[in-house]
Amino acid sequence: MLFSDVVLQPAPALTWRTIGGILDLYIFLGPDPGSVIGEYLEVVGKPAMPPYWALGYHLCRWGYDSSNNTWDVVRAMRNYGIPQDVQWNDIDYMDRALDFTIDPVKFSTLPDLVKDLHIHNQRYVMILDPGISSTQPAGSYLPFEEGIKQGIFINKSSGDTLIGKVWPGLTAFPDFSNPDTHEWWYQNLKKFHDKVPFDGLWIDMNEPSNFFDGSIDGCPSNDLENPPYTPGVLGGSLRAKTVCASARQKITSHYNLHNLFGLMEAKASASALKKILGKRPFVISRSTFPSQGVHSGHWLGDNRSKWKDLYMSIPGMLTFNLLGIPLVGADICGFSDTTTEELCVRWTQLGAFYPFTRNHNTKESKAQDPTVFSPAAQTAMKEALLLRYSLFPFLYTLFHHAHLSGQTVARPLFFEFPTDQKTYVIDKQFLWGKSLLVTPVLDPGVDYVVGYLPQGLWYDFYTGDSIVSKGEEVKLRAPLDKINVHLREGSIIPTQRPNTTLWVSSGQPLRLIVCLTEEGLAEGDLFWDDGEALDTYETDQYAYITFRLKESTMTSEVVHSHLEASYITVETVSFYGVKSTPTSVTVNSQEAAFNYAANQVRGPIRFWINGWDYKAEKENEIQWDN
Ligand code: NOJ
Repeated sequence: MLFSDVVLQPAPALTWRTIGGILDLYIFLGPDPGSVIGEYLEVVGKPAMPPYWALGYHLCRWGYDSSNNTWDVVRAMRNYGIPQDVQWNDIDYMDRALDFTIDPVKFSTLPDLVKDLHIHNQRYVMILDPGISSTQPAGSYLPFEEGIKQGIFINKSSGDTLIGKVWPGLTAFPDFSNPDTHEWWYQNLKKFHDKVPFDGLWIDMNEPSNFFDGSIDGCPSNDLENPPYTPGVLGGSLRAKTVCASARQKITSHYNLHNLFGLMEAKASASALKKILGKRPFVISRSTFPSQGVHSGHWLGDNRSKWKDLYMSIPGMLTFNLLGIPLVGADICGFSDTTTEELCVRWTQLGAFYPFTRNHNTKESKAQDPTVFSPAAQTAMKEALLLRYSLFPFLYTLFHHAHLSGQTVARPLFFEFPTDQKTYVIDKQFLWGKSLLVTPVLDPGVDYVVGYLPQGLWYDFYTGDSIVSKGEEVKLRAPLDKINVHLREGSIIPTQRPNTTLWVSSGQPLRLIVCLTEEGLAEGDLFWDDGEALDTYETDQYAYITFRLKESTMTSEVVHSHLEASYITVETVSFYGVKSTPTSVTVNSQEAAFNYAANQVRGPIRFWINGWDYKAEKENEIQWDN
């Protein structure tokens, strides 16, 4: 929990220097990489199941400048039929950047905007910073005055409130190690929610970030401030751009708690949201610590509209999946600098495969939501997002496995192919789960991409065409409107006809994509629930269905069924890799119509697994002869 630095040595070796505290060392034996992560998460806590809409497309920017401008973007997205589940606001919604306030002029229509979002099955998330303004006239800003009365702020070592500086000017910092602070945070959120019924929280600047070094009066000179060794921290001192190490918090000095600020704030925020909404909380935090995934997701912080940053977002996303914070993504199209249309299209395509997908940028840059680009670019972005929405049942099921057993959602290739050394260095491609391979374009001006296919049979997601790989690089066509996605042999992927919100998409029937091995085998699964209720797995309010293909027969089994949750139908099943034309197909022993295209059988093979029938039958079966 202390300041430390970790240095990679060429040996290879890892040197860990920490300047105090108790070191608990755990060794996780695996044996494979995925098991190491699962074992680690047994210790620090497995990630929370996000609400379904968290997996939709999020749109944000700093500098909409008014609720009406924000609303215009939402309307434009609807007009263009581009998927969007969540609209966000940055600090410009606040009155002079004060937490728990609304700019009375520019954001006067914010409550109406939120109402309108809800009518359209969309959600609203706004930012909160920890810095609480300390300079407002007496009686005009209760969050500070009540905070002082309740003694919930971080103090200087002298015992007075520590004052720093953030967007609203001089500020105090809540001490989230104090349970009273959690209550104060909840009360303020509750009051604000009565005015603006937000659905989730974006917690920023929570390192905690301070425009002063330490405080307005600097920091005292003592051992905590000047330890014998200073790790390689920003600014070269412990106080740089944060609060004094010797500041006092409820349970101990800030020196001991510094790295936990974002975790504790996320915990307070998630618990307040649970109380206010009675549903799964959605929190995205900038600062994180082990256990964070239990309470929040994460975005990768301020990046730039550069091709290099597009690429770097992949290792960033994969790292946070290893750390048990699978709900992660980078600012799509880049935060600072001005994006280009091509970069933004490619970034939206890659971003469609971030577990958390949000376009966000700074107030100095031009608007970069999909609606501001040419019709061709808009279409490409829309297609990428519809593709993501079509994969929602698969993605949601991966999050269930993350929650249940600590599996990664976005996953490096070497997790699935640990004996293939060529996969160890791959950071330009990644998998969703064990079977969906994403090969994005990360360079300007190209219409192809070179990607690695580990040994085995792979299917083009769109066409079902197969590639047999010996473990080799392949050159793939990638015009501006295409992101390459391949499915691994042996998998059954549940997908859904997409729509512009996940609320609508998730009510649509399923299309299963069955990817045969050479031996004609495949398996997959589906976790399904109401998408928002708390602890559905823990309280048995869910359905869990497995799909298995063997000897030209695909069966589905309801392993667990809660009546309402299992109300889902399968409309189409596509078999990729069937070797010869079927002569007949039956669904639950009834002859069924089918189409056959070279290398694949396509819909309309229909069978139904909605609640009652499914429960009664327990099993459905598709069979074919050839
Ligand atoms: C810093 C955050 O990283 C960025 O995303 C945000 O736009 C600004 N703070 C303003 O709130």
